[in-house]
Amino acid sequence: MSKILLTGGTGYIGSHTAVELINAGFEVVIVDNLSNSSADVLNGIERITGVKPEFVKADCADMESMVSLFNRYPDICSVIHFAALKAVGESVEKPLQYYQNNITSLLNLLFLLNERCAASNFVFSSSCTVYGQPDNLPVTELSPYKPASSPYGNTKKIAEDILRDSVHASKSLKVVALRYFNPIGAHPSAEIGELPQGKPDNLVPFITQTAAGVRDKLMIFGNDYNTPDGTAIRDYFHVVDLAKAHVIALQRMIEGKSKQNFEVFNVGAGKGITVLEIVETFKRVTGTKLNYEFIGRREGDIEKVWADTSLANNELGWNPENSLGEALLSAWRWEKKIRNIL
Ligand code: NAD
Ligand code: WQD
Repeated sequence: MSKILLTGGTGYIGSHTAVELINAGFEVVIVDNLSNSSADVLNGIERITGVKPEFVKADCADMESMVSLFNRYPDICSVIHFAALKAVGESVEKPLQYYQNNITSLLNLLFLLNERCAASNFVFSSSCTVYGQPDNLPVTELSPYKPASSPYGNTKKIAEDILRDSVHASKSLKVVALRYFNPIGAHPSAEIGELPQGKPDNLVPFITQTAAGVRDKLMIFGNDYNTPDGTAIRDYFHVVDLAKAHVIALQRMIEGKSKQNFEVFNVGAGKGITVLEIVETFKRVTGTKLNYEFIGRREGDIEKVWADTSLANNELGWNPENSLGEALLSAWRWEKKIRNIL
């Protein structure tokens, strides 16, 4: 079985996907420039699977490095492309860095696959951010793009356009774009998990750090939304379930089951959950206290979004297996592990 290239594979979602791919019998090669992760993640993957993936430290946005990578692994024609900068706020301050990194990385990979592979399979990490604030909920894959609320979100929309046009022009490329909603949690072994650098932007790592005493209190951005408890609604689901969706998407293309050469799937729990519901569920399943305070809305936040996942359920046969409680408990187990809390 030919090797699968995971770009950004020592990152949060990539590392969990590496575990599921290895468990499914695939050989993976990880390329990552370690701009937002550590090579130690490879040891965590090995402790879970017994296999330490081949690893190359390189910048996907650097064509020379990518040429030497593909020369080293000439049989790679299947790629899962996680590598990107993903901090929404930072993208507003440094748009050129985000466009250069996220778009150039994608272009380099597509050029090389087009040049070297008679048939190639490409799974892309897209995001529900392309929907903006949908007019109708739950949001389906046919819901229209909304103007991007950040340069980061725009890189995802641009990337989908590049992929759609590349598939149209190519006879060899197949693509599945997975539009992730809000993945949370960590592998049940607590050997890998989310490792935000510095102060977390995202809700769940901020909650677990607050519960661990690393942060004084959780600031909840806005409780004046038009929602049952006034706090914003998102579609949170377990990162292991997301990882498994990548294996299924890859197998779909390898086994020739794609209905079109460019396919898009929403991946989420298909349920809208408020911030306060996350907080209360976390306290219930972990038995911890959690200090929090309501402050003003965060700029760029939308009010509510959750997925219609029927296409992934019916076409991919993918359904999330973990409950919200398990996802939050796994996040807490991981936080306690990295903080050496019993
Ligand atoms: P992450 O930052 O943990 O992982 C991304 C990895 O890519 C990191 O290890 C980083 O070092 C690497 N990387 C970045 N630029 C690179 C480059 N030029 N060359 C090589 N490696 C590079 O993020 P994540 O949460 O695992 O996200 C993975 C993908 O999923 C990203 O494309 C992100 O935009 C997308 N996504 C994430 C979420 C989420 O909530 N985490 C939601 C929607 C989409
Ligand atoms: C969730 C909710 C916040 C932190 C972002 C990106 C998206 C994707 C996932 C990359 C919101 C609230 C948060 C806090 C809070 N990333 N919150 N206090 O904003 O839905 O999505 O991450 O692709 O593209 O936009 O996720 O976890 O940041 O926030 O009240 O300290 O929690 O306002 O309502 P979000 P999030």
